[in-house]
Amino acid sequence: MTLARIRDLPQHVGETVTLQGWLYNRTSKGKLVFLQVRDGTGICQCVVFRPSVGDELFAIADKLTLESSLIVTGTVRADTRAPGVPGGYELDVHTLQVVHRAEEYPIGPKEHGVEFLMDHRHLWIRSARQWAVLRVRATVMRAIRAWLDSHGFLEVTTPVLTPSAAEGTTTLFEVDYFGEKAYLAQTGQLYNEAAIFSFGRVYCFGPTFRAEKSKTRRHLTEFWMVEPEIAFCDLDQLLEIEEQFVTDIVHTALRENANELKLLGRDTRKLERVQPPFPRITYDEAIARLKDVQARLQRGETVSNCDGEPLQDVPDPALLDITWGMDFGSPHETVLTQLFDRPVFVTGFPTAVKAFYMQPYPERPEICKSADLLAPEGYGEIIGGSERISDAALLEQRIREHGLPLEAYRWYVDLRRYGSVPHSGFGLGVERTVAWICGIEHVREASPFPRLLNRIYP
Ligand code: 4AD
Ligand code: MG
Repeated sequence: MTLARIRDLPQHVGETVTLQGWLYNRTSKGKLVFLQVRDGTGICQCVVFRPSVGDELFAIADKLTLESSLIVTGTVRADTRAPGVPGGYELDVHTLQVVHRAEEYPIGPKEHGVEFLMDHRHLWIRSARQWAVLRVRATVMRAIRAWLDSHGFLEVTTPVLTPSAAEGTTTLFEVDYFGEKAYLAQTGQLYNEAAIFSFGRVYCFGPTFRAEKSKTRRHLTEFWMVEPEIAFCDLDQLLEIEEQFVTDIVHTALRENANELKLLGRDTRKLERVQPPFPRITYDEAIARLKDVQARLQRGETVSNCDGEPLQDVPDPALLDITWGMDFGSPHETVLTQLFDRPVFVTGFPTAVKAFYMQPYPERPEICKSADLLAPEGYGEIIGGSERISDAALLEQRIREHGLPLEAYRWYVDLRRYGSVPHSGFGLGVERTVAWICGIEHVREASPFPRLLNRIYP
C-alpha cells in the first residue's frame, strides 16, 4: 500500500495509492458517488463505482456525512476535467474505510454571516478559501525568514513582557507583573537596536500586541510582525532593502502558491508587477495628491486608478479631508494606493504624528526620516520604518517631549553613548501582507485565530 498526499498525485498516475483525509463534498449520480476528499495538501475527486466496490461500501459512501474522516484506496487517473485542487487527477476507488463518521457539520455551502463563521473559526479553517489563505501565510512567513537569513540578518528574540511603551501609550495591553505594571510588546524594535551593536543586522519575528480600539479591516489586537534593524544604514538604503524584501515575498508566493491564489480568484497579474524600484513620494506630495482627488470627486468627476479604470471603494469625499500634519486614515490610503501600480513609499511624515525615536530632518525638523510602504489596490500600509535618532541628547529631548518616563528608557539612550551609528529599520505586518497577496477584504482571515476588539473566542 502506497500512502500518498493529494499534492503528489501527478507522480502516481496509473498506480494504486491510499489517501487519508476528510470528506469535503459529495454528489451522487446513479451507480456513481463522487467524494471530494481533502487531505491538507489539496482536494481530490474520488469516484466510487457501485460494481467496483460492492453494494455495502457503495451504500456507506453514498450516505457519508461531510467532514467524516476516511481512508480511501484506488487507482490514480489523469483527467483534465477532474475538479479539485490542483485538479486534473481522480481516484478510482477500490476500497474505503470510515475512520469517524462526522455529526451534521454546521458550515454548509450556503452563505453564513461573518460572526457565525468567526464563532466557528476552529472549523472554518477547513474551508478551501481559508485553507488557501493560511497556506499563503505560511509561505510568506517562510519567505520572510529565508530572505533575511540569506542577506546577513541574524534572528534575535525580543521580549513580549516589557516595562514601557515604544509605539505610543494608547494601545498598550497592561499586565500585572508581580505587583508592577508591565505591558505586552507593541514592537521588538528597541531591543533590536541594542542587538545591532552586537550583530550588525538583526531581525525579530513574532506576535505583537496593540489594544486597538479601531474596528477597521486592517486592525487586529494581536498580529505578527517582522522587524529588521540595520547598523550603518540611512533611510535611502533602508528603502532599497524593503523593496527587495517585499518583491521576494510576493514572488515566492506567486511561485509556490499558484494553486491557492487561483482558488482565491486572485488577479496575479497585479502581483507580477511588484518589481523594484517602488515609487517614492513625500508626505507633502501625498497630501497634494489627496486634495486633488478630493476636489475632483467633489466636482463629480470620475477619478481613474493606475490602470485608467475608475477608483474602487471610493469613500465619501468628506472623509478625504486632510490638512498638513494629520496622519493618514484608511480612506486616504485606500485612495492613494490605487494611483500606483506597485507598492508606494511615503516618506517624510510630520514628526509630531510619528514615534519618538524617528530622526528629524536637520534642515526641516518638523518632518522626520520615516517611510511607510503602502500596498496597492487600496490595501494601504504594510510597513512602517524609519531612520532612528542616533544622538543621545536629541533622543532624551524627544522622550521628554513625548511625556515618556526617561528612567524607563535609560538603557535605550545608553546605546547612543557607546559607538553610536546611523541606523534604520522597519516592521512589516504579516496579516496585512497576506491579505494583500490573497486579495481578501479583511485581515481577520489572514490569521488562523484572529484577535479583534470584540473577539477573543475561540
Ligand atoms: O508602523 P508600525 O506601528 O511600526 C512599528 O511598530 C515599528 N516599531 C516597526 C519598526 O520600525 N521596527 O507597525 C508596523 C506594521 C504596520 O505597517 C502594519 O503592517 C502592522 O505592523 N500593524 C498591524 N497589523 C495588524 N493590526 C494592527 N493593529 C497593526 N498595527 C501595525
Ligand atoms: Mg505605522
